[in-house]
Amino acid sequence: MRPRGWRRPAALVLAAALVLGACGGDDGADGPTTTAPATTEEATTTTDEDAPPGALPTGLGDPLYPDLGAPGLDVQHYDVALEVDEELAASGTVTLTVEATEDLVQVPVDARSLAVEAVTLDGEEVDFALEEPELVVRPDAPIAAGTTFDLAVTYVDDPVIAPEADRLGPGWIIAEDGSYSYTLNEPEATRDWLPSLDHPSDKATWRFAITPPPGTIAVANGVPTAQPADGEDGTWVWELDQPMATYLAQVLVGDWELLERPSDDGIRRIDALLADEVGDHDGLIASTDPQLSYLTSVLGPYPFAAYGVAVVDQQIGLAIEQQTRSLFSADAASPGVGVHELGHQWFGDSVTPAAWSDIWLAESFATYCEWLWAEEDGGPTTGEQAEEALAQRDEDGGPPTDDPTVDTLFGFNVYEGGAVVVEALRREMGDEAFFTLLRTWLADNAGTSVTTEDFTALASEVAGRDLDAFFAAWLSAEDLPDALPA
Ligand code: TRP
Ligand code: ZN
Repeated sequence: MRPRGWRRPAALVLAAALVLGACGGDDGADGPTTTAPATTEEATTTTDEDAPPGALPTGLGDPLYPDLGAPGLDVQHYDVALEVDEELAASGTVTLTVEATEDLVQVPVDARSLAVEAVTLDGEEVDFALEEPELVVRPDAPIAAGTTFDLAVTYVDDPVIAPEADRLGPGWIIAEDGSYSYTLNEPEATRDWLPSLDHPSDKATWRFAITPPPGTIAVANGVPTAQPADGEDGTWVWELDQPMATYLAQVLVGDWELLERPSDDGIRRIDALLADEVGDHDGLIASTDPQLSYLTSVLGPYPFAAYGVAVVDQQIGLAIEQQTRSLFSADAASPGVGVHELGHQWFGDSVTPAAWSDIWLAESFATYCEWLWAEEDGGPTTGEQAEEALAQRDEDGGPPTDDPTVDTLFGFNVYEGGAVVVEALRREMGDEAFFTLLRTWLADNAGTSVTTEDFTALASEVAGRDLDAFFAAWLSAEDLPDALPA
């Protein structure tokens, strides 16, 4: 009803530049600029004029992306059943198992540029209206708080095959030569290929049943629990043992090859490479095992049943921490970027920011994982890396690490500029308390979504003293102190 302009390609180019700037192991001198428009979300959540009396807002009111998610709804499970045709377009049914946490007269689901054919509620056909970016489902009778129901949406995602230069998203992306597809969602493009409650505060369990075109395979997050017999066509089922936020959903279709083996520490590794690129990304693949061992020793157990990398045959400088299998473009498939995405499996994937403005809880810590690994690997110390980033932060300005805008969501002060805050906290607390804090944070909050206040409160608790003044000076300030704490 109120279609909104969006210019995702620009945002993805920005994100891509940032990932290379942030993770490429360079000197950081060509850090990101933060000027690209991302989306033109409006700063309100609206209830449509057609909405029945008593309807709740159609979005959660996230400070940066207010439309995403919806109050009164808590998704427990996504069952994603898609058929993918020769053109790599997807169609099928997603069934959301949802708990009503308030009385509901309608159910607004995030969905954009999708052709919805039918919706059922507990198996019965139900009225719906496409009011982009919402699919509003209107049951005959209100749904009482406490009820759990199955909402099944049958739809077609007709992905636009953009000109080559624009092949950066959003959502479900098809390679130039049409030979494979992948998904890129963060922060808000899962809704472009999957009707969902597309906000990171609402994690759920997932099952994917994907039927790829003959002669190809389908890969999704987690581990395969059913697949066609060798050489045959059919449906691939992938499942996760832990909850996942929508923005981390991965579907790969095409001539992928799965490389499976245990890591040095016995963690199940499932890498996915394009069949004609097997052998091309050995640097990334070989560095992952020692990084897994190292990060496990620092942060605590790896949070999921498996880990792997996937590489798309593109030169667009992007990498993203999709849960259990990080995705890289070929030019970003390096050990330095690899450890950033691996660190995200703990910071971001297992323990997820509850709002997009809490993104530093993912990016600043994943960047700090890069710094820790660089030092472990014989490179500069975390302190040296922090001094450099602090100096650059001083030159660049920008918003406080805990208060990004849509334009600076993946900006310097969230990446290196935020890792400076982490190093400062480490010095403020001392090593022992700092690493206890990290391990406690990750263990206590695994599988959940968390806020910045949750983190600062735990930090004060572990330190045994009030750290509010520290966080005011470092985390929430535009201008940081001139020097790191001694
Ligand atoms: N989370 C990614 C990283 O830092 C960056 C990112 C955000 C991204 N949005 C993206 C990458 C979209 C690719 C596409 O590792
Ligand atoms: Zn990151």
